[in-house]
Amino acid sequence: MPATAVVGLQWGDEGKGKVIDSFAAEADVVARYAGGNNAGHTVIVGGEKYVLHLIPGGILHEGTVNLIGRGVVVSLEHLLYEMEGLEARGVPVRERLRLDAGCHVIFPYHRHLDRLLERWRGSGRIGTTGRGIGPAYADRVARTGIRVGDLLQPALFESRLRAALAEKNAIIARVYEDDPEPADRLYEESRQQAERLRELIVDGGALVRRALARSERVLFEGAQGSLLDLDAGTYPYVTSSWTGVWGIAGGIGVAPRCIGRAFAVSKAYATRVGEGPMPTEITDEVGDRLREAGNEYGATTGRPRRCGWFDAVAARYAAELNGIDGLVLTNLDVLSGFHPLPVAVAYRVPAEVPAGGPASGAELLPEFPGARLDLGRVEPVYEELEGWDEDLTGVRSWKDLPGPARAYVGFLEERIGVPVLKVSVGPGRDQMIDGPSFAGGLWA
Ligand code: GDP
Ligand code: IMO
Ligand code: MG
Repeated sequence: MPATAVVGLQWGDEGKGKVIDSFAAEADVVARYAGGNNAGHTVIVGGEKYVLHLIPGGILHEGTVNLIGRGVVVSLEHLLYEMEGLEARGVPVRERLRLDAGCHVIFPYHRHLDRLLERWRGSGRIGTTGRGIGPAYADRVARTGIRVGDLLQPALFESRLRAALAEKNAIIARVYEDDPEPADRLYEESRQQAERLRELIVDGGALVRRALARSERVLFEGAQGSLLDLDAGTYPYVTSSWTGVWGIAGGIGVAPRCIGRAFAVSKAYATRVGEGPMPTEITDEVGDRLREAGNEYGATTGRPRRCGWFDAVAARYAAELNGIDGLVLTNLDVLSGFHPLPVAVAYRVPAEVPAGGPASGAELLPEFPGARLDLGRVEPVYEELEGWDEDLTGVRSWKDLPGPARAYVGFLEERIGVPVLKVSVGPGRDQMIDGPSFAGGLWA
Protein backbone atom coordinates (compact mmCIF):
# COMPACT_ATOMS: atom_id res chain seq x y z
CA MET A 1 0.00 0.00 0.00
CA PRO A 2 1.64 3.27 -1.02
CA ALA A 3 1.79 6.11 1.45
CA THR A 4 -0.13 9.39 1.56
CA ALA A 5 1.33 12.83 2.24
CA VAL A 6 -0.38 15.83 3.84
CA VAL A 7 1.41 19.16 3.44
CA GLY A 8 0.68 22.84 4.03
CA LEU A 9 0.05 24.88 0.89
CA GLN A 10 0.59 28.34 2.37
CA TRP A 11 2.74 29.87 5.14
CA GLY A 12 1.85 27.28 7.78
CA ASP A 13 -1.08 27.04 10.20
CA GLU A 14 -3.42 25.86 7.45
CA GLY A 15 -5.11 23.38 9.78
CA LYS A 16 -2.80 20.41 9.15
CA GLY A 17 -3.22 19.22 12.74
CA LYS A 18 -6.96 18.85 12.35
CA VAL A 19 -6.66 17.16 8.96
CA ILE A 20 -3.94 14.74 10.01
CA ASP A 21 -5.87 13.76 13.13
CA SER A 22 -8.88 13.09 10.95
CA PHE A 23 -6.97 11.09 8.30
CA ALA A 24 -5.02 9.23 11.02
CA ALA A 25 -8.16 7.30 11.90
CA GLU A 26 -7.38 5.23 8.80
CA ALA A 27 -3.57 5.13 9.19
CA ASP A 28 -1.26 2.56 10.77
CA VAL A 29 1.73 4.91 10.86
CA VAL A 30 1.88 8.72 10.99
CA ALA A 31 5.38 10.10 10.35
CA ARG A 32 6.65 13.69 10.66
CA TYR A 33 9.56 14.39 8.32
CA ALA A 34 10.64 18.01 8.88
CA GLY A 35 10.66 21.02 11.18
CA GLY A 36 10.73 20.93 14.94
CA ASN A 37 8.83 22.54 17.78
CA ASN A 38 8.43 25.66 15.68
CA ALA A 39 5.27 23.84 14.53
CA GLY A 40 2.00 24.09 16.43
CA HIS A 41 -0.69 21.70 15.24
CA THR A 42 -4.08 22.08 16.87
CA VAL A 43 -6.38 19.10 17.27
CA ILE A 44 -9.78 19.50 18.88
CA VAL A 45 -11.56 16.34 19.95
CA GLY A 46 -14.84 16.42 21.85
CA GLY A 47 -14.21 20.02 22.90
CA GLU A 48 -10.73 19.14 24.24
CA LYS A 49 -7.90 21.09 22.63
CA TYR A 50 -4.47 19.56 22.05
CA VAL A 51 -1.59 21.54 20.52
CA LEU A 52 1.11 19.24 19.14
CA HIS A 53 4.54 20.69 18.41
CA LEU A 54 6.77 17.67 17.84
CA ILE A 55 4.51 14.69 18.35
CA PRO A 56 2.74 13.55 15.17
CA GLY A 57 -0.99 14.06 14.79
CA GLY A 58 -1.97 10.40 15.00
CA ILE A 59 -1.11 10.24 18.71
CA LEU A 60 -4.74 10.44 19.81
CA HIS A 61 -5.61 7.28 17.86
CA GLU A 62 -5.31 3.83 19.34
CA GLY A 63 -3.23 1.45 17.24
CA THR A 64 -1.32 4.16 15.37
CA VAL A 65 2.47 4.32 15.42
CA ASN A 66 3.67 7.95 15.44
CA LEU A 67 7.19 8.46 14.18
CA ILE A 68 9.33 11.56 14.51
CA GLY A 69 11.41 11.07 11.38
CA ARG A 70 15.10 11.83 11.02
CA GLY A 71 14.45 15.10 9.17
CA VAL A 72 12.91 16.62 12.33
CA VAL A 73 15.12 18.62 14.69
CA VAL A 74 14.30 17.67 18.27
CA SER A 75 14.65 19.43 21.58
CA LEU A 76 14.64 16.47 23.96
CA GLU A 77 13.59 18.74 26.79
CA HIS A 78 10.58 19.92 24.81
CA LEU A 79 9.70 16.42 23.63
CA LEU A 80 9.61 15.07 27.19
CA TYR A 81 7.52 18.07 28.26
CA GLU A 82 5.05 17.49 25.44
CA MET A 83 4.87 13.77 26.22
CA GLU A 84 4.16 14.49 29.89
CA GLY A 85 1.40 16.92 28.95
CA LEU A 86 -0.36 14.27 26.87
CA GLU A 87 0.26 11.50 29.41
CA ALA A 88 -1.32 13.66 32.11
CA ARG A 89 -4.43 13.77 29.91
CA GLY A 90 -4.51 9.98 29.63
CA VAL A 91 -2.86 9.50 26.22
CA PRO A 92 -0.61 6.39 26.25
CA VAL A 93 2.19 8.21 24.46
CA ARG A 94 4.94 5.66 25.00
CA GLU A 95 2.92 2.93 23.30
CA ARG A 96 2.35 5.06 20.24
CA LEU A 97 5.47 7.22 19.78
CA ARG A 98 8.83 6.44 18.14
CA LEU A 99 11.84 8.71 17.59
CA ASP A 100 14.41 8.24 14.82
CA ALA A 101 17.97 7.93 16.09
CA GLY A 102 19.06 10.12 13.18
CA CYS A 103 17.16 13.24 14.32
CA HIS A 104 19.43 16.16 15.03
CA VAL A 105 19.13 17.52 18.55
CA ILE A 106 18.32 21.14 19.39
CA PHE A 107 20.43 22.20 22.37
CA PRO A 108 20.05 25.38 24.43
CA TYR A 109 22.94 26.95 22.49
CA HIS A 110 20.87 26.66 19.30
CA ARG A 111 18.06 28.69 20.87
CA HIS A 112 20.61 31.17 22.18
CA LEU A 113 22.10 31.57 18.69
CA ASP A 114 18.61 31.88 17.15
CA ARG A 115 17.96 34.90 19.41
CA LEU A 116 21.39 36.44 18.76
CA LEU A 117 21.09 35.99 14.99
CA GLU A 118 17.68 37.63 14.93
CA ARG A 119 19.03 40.57 16.91
CA TRP A 120 21.99 40.82 14.54
CA ARG A 121 19.68 40.80 11.51
CA GLY A 122 17.95 43.92 12.86
CA SER A 123 15.34 45.20 10.42
CA GLY A 124 16.09 42.19 8.20
CA ARG A 125 14.98 39.79 10.94
CA ILE A 126 12.98 36.73 9.92
CA GLY A 127 10.68 36.69 12.91
CA THR A 128 11.61 33.12 13.82
CA THR A 129 9.87 31.18 16.54
CA GLY A 130 13.07 31.36 18.61
CA ARG A 131 13.14 27.58 18.98
CA GLY A 132 16.69 27.15 17.63
CA ILE A 133 15.48 25.62 14.36
CA GLY A 134 17.79 27.46 11.93
CA PRO A 135 20.97 27.01 14.00
CA ALA A 136 20.25 23.29 14.53
CA TYR A 137 19.71 22.68 10.80
CA ALA A 138 22.80 24.78 10.04
CA ASP A 139 24.85 22.49 12.29
CA ARG A 140 23.47 19.44 10.50
CA VAL A 141 24.67 20.77 7.15
CA ALA A 142 27.95 21.98 8.63
CA ARG A 143 28.46 18.49 10.09
CA THR A 144 28.77 19.79 13.62
CA GLY A 145 25.35 18.56 14.67
CA ILE A 146 24.64 15.87 17.26
CA ARG A 147 22.04 13.20 16.62
CA VAL A 148 19.69 11.45 19.02
CA GLY A 149 21.59 8.17 18.56
CA ASP A 150 24.86 9.88 19.50
CA LEU A 151 23.45 10.68 22.94
CA LEU A 152 23.06 6.98 23.68
CA GLN A 153 26.84 6.56 23.29
CA PRO A 154 28.31 8.47 26.25
CA ALA A 155 31.94 8.77 25.15
CA LEU A 156 31.06 9.76 21.61
CA PHE A 157 28.44 12.23 22.83
CA GLU A 158 30.79 13.82 25.32
CA SER A 159 33.49 14.46 22.74
CA ARG A 160 31.03 15.81 20.16
CA LEU A 161 29.28 18.03 22.69
CA ARG A 162 32.59 19.35 23.99
CA ALA A 163 33.72 20.22 20.46
CA ALA A 164 30.37 21.82 19.55
CA LEU A 165 30.19 23.86 22.73
CA ALA A 166 33.74 25.15 22.37
CA GLU A 167 32.90 26.43 18.88
CA LYS A 168 29.49 27.86 19.82
CA ASN A 169 30.79 29.58 22.89
CA ALA A 170 33.61 31.15 20.92
CA ILE A 171 31.03 32.54 18.48
CA ILE A 172 28.63 33.64 21.22
CA ALA A 173 31.33 35.39 23.24
CA ARG A 174 33.64 36.76 20.55
CA VAL A 175 31.29 37.51 17.65
CA TYR A 176 28.11 38.44 19.51
CA GLU A 177 29.81 39.54 22.76
CA ASP A 178 27.24 37.67 24.82
CA ASP A 179 27.56 35.35 27.80
CA PRO A 180 28.71 31.84 26.84
CA GLU A 181 26.48 28.83 27.44
CA PRO A 182 27.17 27.01 30.71
CA ALA A 183 28.73 23.65 29.86
CA ASP A 184 28.71 21.85 33.18
CA ARG A 185 25.14 20.55 33.35
CA LEU A 186 24.35 20.16 29.65
CA TYR A 187 26.06 16.81 29.22
CA GLU A 188 24.41 15.23 32.27
CA GLU A 189 20.96 16.65 31.55
CA SER A 190 21.01 15.62 27.91
CA ARG A 191 22.19 12.12 28.79
CA GLN A 192 19.35 11.76 31.29
CA GLN A 193 16.82 12.98 28.77
CA ALA A 194 18.10 10.54 26.15
CA GLU A 195 17.90 7.64 28.62
CA ARG A 196 14.30 8.51 29.38
CA LEU A 197 13.60 8.28 25.65
CA ARG A 198 15.79 5.23 24.95
CA GLU A 199 12.96 2.72 24.57
CA LEU A 200 11.36 4.88 21.86
CA ILE A 201 14.48 5.41 19.74
CA VAL A 202 14.48 3.44 16.48
CA ASP A 203 15.66 3.40 12.88
CA GLY A 204 12.61 5.26 11.61
CA GLY A 205 13.29 4.74 7.92
CA ALA A 206 13.40 0.98 8.44
CA LEU A 207 10.20 1.16 10.51
CA VAL A 208 8.32 2.87 7.67
CA ARG A 209 9.82 0.69 4.94
CA ARG A 210 8.79 -2.46 6.84
CA ALA A 211 5.30 -1.06 7.42
CA LEU A 212 4.94 -0.36 3.70
CA ALA A 213 6.19 -3.85 2.87
CA ARG A 214 3.41 -5.22 5.10
CA SER A 215 0.89 -3.11 3.10
CA GLU A 216 0.18 -0.87 6.07
CA ARG A 217 -1.17 2.64 5.61
CA VAL A 218 1.44 5.33 6.17
CA LEU A 219 0.62 9.02 6.46
CA PHE A 220 3.43 11.55 6.10
CA GLU A 221 2.72 14.66 8.14
CA GLY A 222 4.02 17.97 6.87
CA ALA A 223 4.91 20.83 9.16
CA GLN A 224 5.08 24.52 8.21
CA GLY A 225 3.93 25.28 4.67
CA SER A 226 5.22 25.19 1.10
CA LEU A 227 5.80 28.97 1.03
CA LEU A 228 8.01 28.64 4.13
CA ASP A 229 10.13 25.97 2.41
CA LEU A 230 13.87 26.60 2.50
CA ASP A 231 14.16 26.49 -1.30
CA ALA A 232 10.65 26.86 -2.71
CA GLY A 233 9.46 29.53 -0.31
CA THR A 234 9.94 33.26 0.07
CA TYR A 235 13.66 33.03 0.87
CA PRO A 236 15.17 34.25 3.18
CA TYR A 237 11.88 34.60 5.06
CA VAL A 238 11.48 30.87 5.35
CA THR A 239 12.17 28.07 7.78
CA SER A 240 15.28 25.91 7.46
CA SER A 241 13.80 22.66 6.18
CA TRP A 242 12.14 21.11 3.16
CA THR A 243 8.50 21.41 4.05
CA GLY A 244 6.93 20.08 0.83
CA VAL A 245 6.44 16.56 -0.47
CA TRP A 246 10.06 16.70 -1.68
CA GLY A 247 11.23 16.62 1.94
CA ILE A 248 9.66 13.26 2.71
CA ALA A 249 12.11 10.78 1.19
CA GLY A 250 15.12 12.41 2.83
CA GLY A 251 13.36 13.30 6.06
CA ILE A 252 12.13 9.76 6.69
CA GLY A 253 14.42 7.41 4.78
CA VAL A 254 12.05 6.01 2.16
CA ALA A 255 12.01 5.96 -1.63
CA PRO A 256 10.11 8.87 -3.21
CA ARG A 257 8.02 6.47 -5.26
CA CYS A 258 6.29 5.12 -2.15
CA ILE A 259 4.26 8.35 -1.99
CA GLY A 260 1.07 7.45 -3.80
CA ARG A 261 -1.13 10.42 -2.90
CA ALA A 262 -0.39 13.97 -1.84
CA PHE A 263 -2.96 16.22 -0.23
CA ALA A 264 -2.51 19.86 0.62
CA VAL A 265 -4.20 21.79 3.38
CA SER A 266 -5.03 25.42 2.75
CA LYS A 267 -7.13 28.00 4.50
CA ALA A 268 -9.88 29.69 2.51
CA TYR A 269 -7.89 32.91 3.05
CA ALA A 270 -4.22 33.59 3.82
CA THR A 271 -2.27 33.97 7.06
CA ARG A 272 1.39 34.39 7.85
CA VAL A 273 3.36 34.71 11.12
CA GLY A 274 6.72 36.43 11.15
CA GLU A 275 8.32 38.68 8.56
CA GLY A 276 8.48 38.42 4.79
CA PRO A 277 6.37 39.30 1.78
CA MET A 278 2.66 38.50 1.70
CA PRO A 279 1.07 40.10 -1.37
CA THR A 280 -2.56 39.76 -0.25
CA GLU A 281 -2.06 40.98 3.33
CA ILE A 282 -4.94 43.18 4.56
CA THR A 283 -3.48 45.96 6.65
CA ASP A 284 -6.67 47.80 7.59
CA GLU A 285 -9.46 46.94 10.03
CA VAL A 286 -10.84 44.25 7.70
CA GLY A 287 -7.63 42.31 8.43
CA ASP A 288 -8.27 42.74 12.16
CA ARG A 289 -11.83 41.46 11.69
CA LEU A 290 -10.54 38.42 9.86
CA ARG A 291 -7.98 37.78 12.63
CA GLU A 292 -10.69 37.89 15.28
CA ALA A 293 -13.16 35.82 13.24
CA GLY A 294 -10.53 33.13 12.65
CA ASN A 295 -8.86 33.47 16.07
CA GLU A 296 -5.62 33.91 14.18
CA TYR A 297 -3.02 33.83 16.93
CA GLY A 298 0.00 31.54 16.65
CA ALA A 299 -0.32 28.08 18.22
CA THR A 300 3.40 28.12 19.12
CA THR A 301 4.25 31.71 20.00
CA GLY A 302 0.83 33.32 20.45
CA ARG A 303 1.79 36.05 17.98
CA PRO A 304 -1.08 37.64 16.01
CA ARG A 305 -1.07 36.20 12.51
CA ARG A 306 -1.03 38.54 9.54
CA CYS A 307 -4.26 37.97 7.59
CA GLY A 308 -5.03 38.38 3.91
CA TRP A 309 -7.20 37.33 0.99
CA PHE A 310 -6.71 34.02 -0.75
CA ASP A 311 -3.67 34.08 -3.02
CA ALA A 312 -4.48 31.74 -5.90
CA VAL A 313 -1.21 32.56 -7.69
CA ALA A 314 0.89 31.28 -4.79
CA ALA A 315 -1.48 28.35 -4.18
CA ARG A 316 -1.27 27.20 -7.79
CA TYR A 317 2.52 27.34 -7.66
CA ALA A 318 2.64 25.34 -4.42
CA ALA A 319 0.14 22.76 -5.67
CA GLU A 320 2.11 22.24 -8.86
CA LEU A 321 5.42 21.88 -7.01
CA ASN A 322 4.04 19.30 -4.61
CA GLY A 323 2.07 17.36 -7.23
CA ILE A 324 -1.09 17.73 -5.20
CA ASP A 325 -3.95 15.28 -5.86
CA GLY A 326 -6.55 16.93 -3.67
CA LEU A 327 -7.07 19.89 -1.44
CA VAL A 328 -8.50 20.25 2.04
CA LEU A 329 -9.87 23.76 2.33
CA THR A 330 -10.14 24.86 5.95
CA ASN A 331 -11.73 27.82 7.78
CA LEU A 332 -14.40 28.42 5.15
CA ASP A 333 -16.73 29.26 8.07
CA VAL A 334 -14.52 32.23 9.00
CA LEU A 335 -15.40 34.06 5.78
CA SER A 336 -19.11 34.38 6.64
CA GLY A 337 -20.07 38.05 6.65
CA PHE A 338 -17.19 39.34 4.52
CA HIS A 339 -18.36 41.11 1.34
CA PRO A 340 -17.03 40.84 -1.31
CA LEU A 341 -14.29 38.18 -1.24
CA PRO A 342 -11.27 39.21 -3.31
CA VAL A 343 -9.02 36.40 -4.62
CA ALA A 344 -5.60 37.18 -6.12
CA VAL A 345 -5.50 35.74 -9.64
CA ALA A 346 -2.30 37.44 -10.88
CA TYR A 347 0.40 39.82 -9.66
CA ARG A 348 1.35 43.20 -10.98
CA VAL A 349 4.85 44.62 -10.75
CA PRO A 350 4.42 48.40 -10.54
CA ALA A 351 6.30 50.65 -12.92
CA GLU A 352 9.73 51.66 -11.71
CA VAL A 353 10.90 55.22 -12.02
CA PRO A 354 14.67 55.19 -11.51
CA ALA A 355 16.25 58.52 -10.64
CA GLY A 356 17.05 60.29 -13.92
CA GLY A 357 16.19 57.26 -16.05
CA PRO A 358 13.16 56.40 -18.18
CA ALA A 359 10.23 54.81 -16.36
CA SER A 360 9.65 51.16 -17.24
CA GLY A 361 6.05 50.02 -17.61
CA ALA A 362 4.10 47.96 -15.12
CA GLU A 363 4.29 44.23 -15.74
CA LEU A 364 1.56 41.64 -15.26
CA LEU A 365 2.65 38.31 -13.81
CA PRO A 366 0.18 35.45 -14.25
CA GLU A 367 2.45 33.08 -12.31
CA PHE A 368 4.41 33.01 -9.08
CA PRO A 369 7.79 34.56 -9.86
CA GLY A 370 9.96 32.29 -7.68
CA ALA A 371 13.49 33.61 -7.18
CA ARG A 372 13.37 35.83 -10.28
CA LEU A 373 11.74 38.68 -8.44
CA ASP A 374 11.40 39.82 -4.84
CA LEU A 375 7.80 39.00 -3.94
CA GLY A 376 7.77 42.16 -1.83
CA ARG A 377 7.60 44.13 -5.08
CA VAL A 378 4.38 42.65 -6.43
CA GLU A 379 0.80 43.83 -5.96
CA PRO A 380 -2.12 41.44 -6.23
CA VAL A 381 -4.64 41.59 -9.06
CA TYR A 382 -7.96 40.62 -7.55
CA GLU A 383 -11.10 39.04 -8.84
CA GLU A 384 -13.99 39.69 -6.45
CA LEU A 385 -16.40 36.95 -5.48
CA GLU A 386 -19.73 37.19 -3.77
CA GLY A 387 -19.74 36.59 -0.01
CA TRP A 388 -22.39 35.01 2.22
CA ASP A 389 -23.74 35.68 5.71
CA GLU A 390 -24.89 32.22 6.82
CA ASP A 391 -23.12 30.43 9.66
CA LEU A 392 -21.42 27.39 8.12
CA THR A 393 -20.24 25.67 11.29
CA GLY A 394 -23.21 23.30 11.42
CA VAL A 395 -23.22 22.42 7.71
CA ARG A 396 -22.25 18.81 6.94
CA SER A 397 -22.94 18.38 3.25
CA TRP A 398 -21.83 20.19 0.13
CA LYS A 399 -25.38 20.83 -1.08
CA ASP A 400 -26.25 22.58 2.19
CA LEU A 401 -23.54 25.22 1.75
CA PRO A 402 -24.88 28.59 0.55
CA GLY A 403 -24.56 29.08 -3.23
CA PRO A 404 -21.86 31.79 -2.97
CA ALA A 405 -19.76 29.54 -0.66
CA ARG A 406 -19.97 26.71 -3.19
CA ALA A 407 -19.08 29.14 -5.98
CA TYR A 408 -16.10 30.42 -3.94
CA VAL A 409 -14.75 26.89 -3.40
CA GLY A 410 -15.35 26.07 -7.06
CA PHE A 411 -13.44 29.18 -8.13
CA LEU A 412 -10.43 28.28 -5.94
CA GLU A 413 -10.51 24.72 -7.26
CA GLU A 414 -10.37 25.95 -10.83
CA ARG A 415 -7.66 28.55 -10.15
CA ILE A 416 -5.43 26.19 -8.17
CA GLY A 417 -6.00 23.40 -10.64
CA VAL A 418 -6.66 20.78 -7.97
CA PRO A 419 -9.97 19.21 -6.87
CA VAL A 420 -11.19 19.84 -3.35
CA LEU A 421 -11.28 16.64 -1.28
CA LYS A 422 -12.78 18.15 1.89
CA VAL A 423 -14.04 21.48 3.12
CA SER A 424 -13.60 22.26 6.81
CA VAL A 425 -16.15 24.49 8.52
CA GLY A 426 -14.88 24.58 12.09
CA PRO A 427 -12.03 23.37 14.26
CA GLY A 428 -13.79 20.21 15.52
CA ARG A 429 -13.04 16.75 14.19
CA ASP A 430 -16.54 16.34 12.75
CA GLN A 431 -16.74 19.77 11.09
CA MET A 432 -15.72 18.46 7.68
CA ILE A 433 -17.61 18.15 4.38
CA ASP A 434 -16.77 16.00 1.36
CA GLY A 435 -15.78 18.19 -1.59
CA PRO A 436 -17.79 18.11 -4.79
CA SER A 437 -15.41 16.65 -7.33
CA PHE A 438 -12.62 14.56 -5.86
CA ALA A 439 -12.49 11.11 -7.40
CA GLY A 440 -10.54 8.51 -5.44
CA GLY A 441 -9.78 7.93 -1.80
CA LEU A 442 -7.11 8.85 0.71
CA TRP A 443 -4.88 6.00 -0.39
CA ALA A 444 -3.68 5.22 -3.89
P1 GDP B 1 -1.50 23.75 11.61
O1 GDP B 1 -0.22 24.32 12.09
O2 GDP B 1 -1.56 23.67 10.12
O3 GDP B 1 -1.85 22.43 12.24
O4 GDP B 1 -2.65 24.78 12.05
P2 GDP B 1 -2.79 25.49 13.50
O5 GDP B 1 -3.30 24.51 14.46
O6 GDP B 1 -1.54 26.23 13.83
O7 GDP B 1 -3.85 26.60 13.16
C1 GDP B 1 -5.09 26.28 12.64
C2 GDP B 1 -6.16 26.89 13.57
O8 GDP B 1 -7.40 26.85 12.91
C3 GDP B 1 -6.35 26.10 14.85
O9 GDP B 1 -6.72 26.99 15.86
C4 GDP B 1 -7.49 25.16 14.50
O10 GDP B 1 -8.20 24.72 15.63
C5 GDP B 1 -8.32 26.04 13.61
N1 GDP B 1 -9.11 25.38 12.57
C6 GDP B 1 -8.81 24.30 11.81
N2 GDP B 1 -9.76 24.10 10.87
C7 GDP B 1 -10.67 25.07 11.05
C8 GDP B 1 -11.88 25.42 10.39
O11 GDP B 1 -12.29 24.80 9.42
N3 GDP B 1 -12.55 26.51 10.87
C9 GDP B 1 -12.11 27.24 11.92
N4 GDP B 1 -12.82 28.27 12.32
N5 GDP B 1 -10.97 26.95 12.56
C10 GDP B 1 -10.26 25.88 12.12
P1 IMO C 1 3.05 24.92 11.51
O1 IMO C 1 3.57 23.51 11.36
C1 IMO C 1 3.53 29.19 10.81
C2 IMO C 1 7.64 30.70 10.56
C3 IMO C 1 8.10 31.64 11.65
C4 IMO C 1 9.07 32.48 10.86
C5 IMO C 1 9.73 31.48 9.93
C6 IMO C 1 11.06 30.95 10.41
O2 IMO C 1 2.31 25.17 12.77
O3 IMO C 1 2.31 25.32 10.28
P2 IMO C 1 11.75 29.28 12.36
O4 IMO C 1 11.50 29.32 13.83
O5 IMO C 1 11.20 28.07 11.67
O6 IMO C 1 13.18 29.50 11.99
O7 IMO C 1 10.96 30.55 11.77
O8 IMO C 1 8.81 30.42 9.80
N1 IMO C 1 7.10 29.40 11.02
C7 IMO C 1 5.80 29.08 11.02
N2 IMO C 1 4.71 29.82 10.71
N3 IMO C 1 3.39 27.90 11.14
C8 IMO C 1 4.46 27.13 11.42
O9 IMO C 1 4.38 25.81 11.63
C9 IMO C 1 5.74 27.73 11.39
N4 IMO C 1 7.00 27.28 11.63
C10 IMO C 1 7.81 28.30 11.38
O10 IMO C 1 7.02 32.39 12.16
O11 IMO C 1 8.37 33.40 10.05
MG1 MG D 1 0.48 25.82 13.37
